[in-house]
Amino acid sequence: MSDGLVQSARAAASNAHAPYSRFGVGAAVLLDDGSVVTGCNFENASYGLSLCAEIVALATLNAQGKLRQIREIAIVGGRLDKRAISGSTPVRPCGRCRQVMTEAAQLALRDIIVHCASADLSVVEKFWLSDLLPLPFGPSDMGLVQDD
Ligand code: THU
Repeated sequence: MSDGLVQSARAAASNAHAPYSRFGVGAAVLLDDGSVVTGCNFENASYGLSLCAEIVALATLNAQGKLRQIREIAIVGGRLDKRAISGSTPVRPCGRCRQVMTEAAQLALRDIIVHCASADLSVVEKFWLSDLLPLPFGPSDMGLVQDD
């Protein structure tokens, strides 16, 4: 299953709007029902307003009312040239993305698996989100994980 998820993330990266960094990232989230929601990074001329691929995917999940259905996420990125990414270094989620993934994971009442892949798919790492962001602060600390 993770192969397909990583492939979906890689395909999503080809839609990255990343003219400033020229670094394309794709994210693909696997849901309870087996469906997949993707996102790619969406940069902005003001730089600081740029959105990471994971944020775009998670916000899309939320817009579909499926935030609590998250199971796994795959992230793939690399140098972007003519809609293709390249490189052999896996992309690990930035700190903000780890926090936002934790929001979804705590609401889903589970730890989630994070696949981090290089653009050429030569490296695919697998982590628990709780290892990437230990001792988090999240909705569970605010008593918000049950119904709302
Ligand atoms: N980026 C992501 O989309 N996800 C990450 O976890 C790390 C970084 C994007 C943001 C920016 O558009 C580009 O990669 C270079 O930092």
